[in-house]
Parts: sequence; C-alpha cells; structure tokens
Amino acid sequence: MRKIEILTENDLEDKLCDCLSRHELPDCFLYVGPTGAESWINLDHSEEFPFASTLENLLRRNLPPIAERLPPGVGLLSLGVGEGRKERLLLAEFSRDRTVCYVAVDVSSHLVDLALEAVGDLNVAAVGVVAMTEDLPLFRVRWHSPLLISLLGNNFSNYPPARILDLIRDQMGPDDHFLFDCHVLPGEVGKRESWRRSVERIYGSGLNARLNLAPLTRHGAIPDSCDFSLDLMTEPSEQGPPMRTRKGVRVLKNQTLFLHGDISPLRAGEIIEMGLTCKYTPDQVQALLRAHRFETVRRFLNFEGDSMLVLARPV
Ligand SMILES: C[S@@+](CC[C@H](N)C(=O)[O-])C[C@H]1O[C@@H](n2cnc3c(N)ncnc32)[C@H](O)[C@@H]1O
Repeated sequence: MRKIEILTENDLEDKLCDCLSRHELPDCFLYVGPTGAESWINLDHSEEFPFASTLENLLRRNLPPIAERLPPGVGLLSLGVGEGRKERLLLAEFSRDRTVCYVAVDVSSHLVDLALEAVGDLNVAAVGVVAMTEDLPLFRVRWHSPLLISLLGNNFSNYPPARILDLIRDQMGPDDHFLFDCHVLPGEVGKRESWRRSVERIYGSGLNARLNLAPLTRHGAIPDSCDFSLDLMTEPSEQGPPMRTRKGVRVLKNQTLFLHGDISPLRAGEIIEMGLTCKYTPDQVQALLRAHRFETVRRFLNFEGDSMLVLARPV
C-alpha cells in the first residue's frame, strides 16, 4: 500500500511553533505522533466518550441504504480518517464484487498507517495521504470520480461550516457524494440544559483533557501545570443560534517547551486558545447544506435524536 506525505513532521512542528507564538493550539495537533494517536484511540474506545460509538453504530445500521444511492464504481476518499474503522465498514460493503479505490487522509502519519492496516484483508486499492484536510485541492486531482468524500467522527463540526462545505463542494464532480456525521443539538429547547451539562461533562473528562494537552506534554510541558477547560456557548449565525465549545489551556506555572530544536517559554497565567466544535440542530445542518450548494440524498438520525449521518451531493 502506498503512502504519500504532503505534510512532514517538520512542517507540523513549524506550524505548531507558529501557532503557539500566537497563543493558539488548533485541534489538528492533538492526534499527531504516537502519543497523540494513542491518546485519541484511548478516548475513542472509552466508555467515558460515548459519542464515538454512537456515530459508528449509526453508520453500521445504515450501510445498505447508503451503498444503494452511490454510483457504480465509486471510490472512497476519507478526510481525517483516524483509525479508519468506519471506512472499513463502508469498504467491506462496497468491495463485495469489485476492487475499490480508497484514499485515507489524515494529518497524523501514525493514524494513516493504522487506517491502511485496517483494510489489509479487503479487496481495495488503498493509498494513504498525510495531509491537512484544508489542502484537499492539492491532492483531490490525483483520483477520478465518482468518489465518496467522507468526513466522519464529528469532524464536520470542528470547522467553520462555510469553510469546510465550500472546500469540499469545490472539489466535487457531478457524480461525487459527500458523507458526514455529527452530534446535533436537540431540537426541543426544554432538553437543552441537561444536554449541555452532559456534553460539558463528557468533553471535560480526564481522557479528553489528556488528548487536548498531548501536544504540550509531548514537548515537555508538566501535565499538572496546565489546566484544560471547556464550556459550551451560544453564538449567533444566519441559520439561528448554534452552540459551540470554547476550549482553552491556562498555564499554571512558568515552564519551557522544547520545540523543533528550540526552547519556548510558557508563562504562568497565559491562556492558549484551542479549536472549536459546533453543535447545530438538524434543521441548521440542512440550511447550511442548501446555502453551500449541496442537496441531501439521505439523512439518518439516531433514536435519541442527538446524532446525525448525512449523504449529500452537489447541486
Ligand atoms: C475526531 S477524530 C475522527 C477520526 C475518525 N474519522 C473517526 O470517525 O473516528 C479527527 C481526525 O481528524 C484528524 N484531523 C484533525 N484535524 C485535521 C486536519 N486539519 N487535517 C487532516 N486531518 C485532521 C485527526 O488526526 C483525527 O484522526
């Protein structure tokens, strides 16, 4: 199996230095290196973090109706593939009677390796790509349509919606499809307060804090001297007020990071801003898709109404 490295470890270290100099720590750094990948896998497999298994079960239950709406000969290009467990489910369905083209993309080289291993026994022609999702225009051209472009594991919610939808839409041909999943805000306003408390509790767990602090501890930060915090806030938008997480790290003690052969101080009291996770209602997701030139082919909600899987195509 081939692996293409568009982004090297050195590039990532340069980007991390640059972001930290602005007191920012975007989520793409959390999963990098063996420790980042391991922290994600621990969280993903943990009962403390039920979001992951809920989304996987939603996909597992709806594989046939997804497969039947895709054009013959479709390949799979997965952005932010992680360990590639959901992609394995899709590919097992698609590869019953043919060899399927599979492109596994992730910023974490370690996770790309795991995603490729996960389909070693299937009838797929797999290629790994170590790259940022944001660089899709650089590598999409290497593969022919029809493609199913997937963004799974609530990854869709980690980007400003206009940016991710336009990025993907602009790279799609008329026969391509887009599959994504996300946790959604309960439509019923009365349920929101208890929902908010449970989301803050789950995201605030020790395992999630470890994942979020991994880029700092990997570079020498003292674990107990950085405080991870997360809360949910409401934000105005054209589609009505979605909620989003506000994440950050407060540095509690002066200390030093070792970054790319250089040393960089972290000062007590410094706040480092982290990535966002948006929480939309199902109707807000539909409105966003329409506004960014997609039409929904199929939409699946779980019984509790807090997780959604969408198959869309360009209009
Ligand atoms: C929440 S995990 C989801 C993993 C997997 N798709 C799943 O469903 O379990 C997010 C994944 O996206 C990757 N990722 C995060 N930011 C990225 C970026 N900007 N470009 C490429 N990959 C990214 C991470 O390395 C991680 O594997």
